[in-house]
Amino acid sequence: MVKKRVGLFVDIMMYALLITQMLYVFVGNNAHEIIGIAFFICLAVHIVLKKWWFKTILKKDKPLQRRIFDIITCLLMISIIVLMISSMGVSRFLFPWFFHLGSSDLHRYMGTAVLTLGVLHGGMHMIMRAKNKRPVYIGVTLACIASVSIGVFAVPYLNRHLKSVDISYSEKVIGDKVDWTGEKPLVVYFSRMGNTDFEPDVDAVSGASLLISDGEMMGNDQLIADMVGDILDCESIGITVKGYKYPSSYNETISVAGDELRAAARPPIEPIDVTGYDSVILIYPLWWNSIPMPVASFLEQNDFSGKTLYLIATQGSSGYGNTVSEIETLCPDANVIPGTSIYCEDIPDARNTLYDLIKSWNSGK
Ligand SMILES: Cc1cc2nc3c(=O)[nH]c(=O)nc-3n(C[C@H](O)[C@H](O)[C@H](O)COP(=O)(O)O)c2cc1C
Repeated sequence: MVKKRVGLFVDIMMYALLITQMLYVFVGNNAHEIIGIAFFICLAVHIVLKKWWFKTILKKDKPLQRRIFDIITCLLMISIIVLMISSMGVSRFLFPWFFHLGSSDLHRYMGTAVLTLGVLHGGMHMIMRAKNKRPVYIGVTLACIASVSIGVFAVPYLNRHLKSVDISYSEKVIGDKVDWTGEKPLVVYFSRMGNTDFEPDVDAVSGASLLISDGEMMGNDQLIADMVGDILDCESIGITVKGYKYPSSYNETISVAGDELRAAARPPIEPIDVTGYDSVILIYPLWWNSIPMPVASFLEQNDFSGKTLYLIATQGSSGYGNTVSEIETLCPDANVIPGTSIYCEDIPDARNTLYDLIKSWNSGK
């Protein structure tokens, strides 16, 4: 009886901790890592309490539901192992010495997989025991859909809208240089910062996706551009829209950007001349899975024939989206080389990844 109650308590705790982990944006990094340890302790207790399952796994003549349960449990165990390793690979607080993954994508996908498979695992238990299985089937299906939606939509949305990060500029930006062979490269970036009409008292939350660097607001792509500019010790120019600014509200910017994309607008921009550079490193955020339209203006206003266009994107969940093919279409004569697409949360700690990437570009020339 006591064992059963402890088991139930531990199971409920595990689901509660997993959901809390998904709310990273509110919890913060250090608490996220500590809660992760608490989750794995609960998991160890769960495994000890249910160790009999391991003896049944190879038994033959099992009903179909039992077999499905075993498969789900095995997949859950594999996901948990990958989640555990990837947790250490993205840790900045408890395991900073562990091999760093450079991106938290795998960790986020595994978090979603573990939550969904965990719901299925618990759900299968209930299905096998229930007399009237129909409502349980419906409940488990809805819980699985909710789990996938949390991981795929809700978490990226919260990170994009509510995350505020305070960094020390010199610690994050300044470091080792790469000696670029050939002509001097040029860094060109587009960022919401510099193109938005922020009220003087706007904070990082209402100006979502912005960083606070040494007390000053900074755009994600601006920070990446500064890192790349420092690594290459070269000039970095921001694309600036002429004649208007994007609205301070994040949601309104999304809607304006959507209108511009649908209209294939080419907003007027301050001129940037790439003549004399053979390599242009273009840094841009994903807007509606596409390049922001001012970036299209920049690409159309320049002749990239014979030049190499290295791409670095930043985003809140979508990888490169459609941007690589869009850029290839806009610059058919350029040698377009995609480098990396950085998830917004990984931006403050992206310098090492960028350094390795630029080194590999340089040696691949
Ligand atoms: C108008 C707008 C549209 C966006 N659309 C997407 C999107 O489709 N996919 C995505 O992953 N992130 C999207 N984002 C998130 C940005 O790509 C991400 O926060 C980026 O790092 C912001 O860079 P910045 O601070 O330099 O402007 C969007 C942001 C804005 C403002």
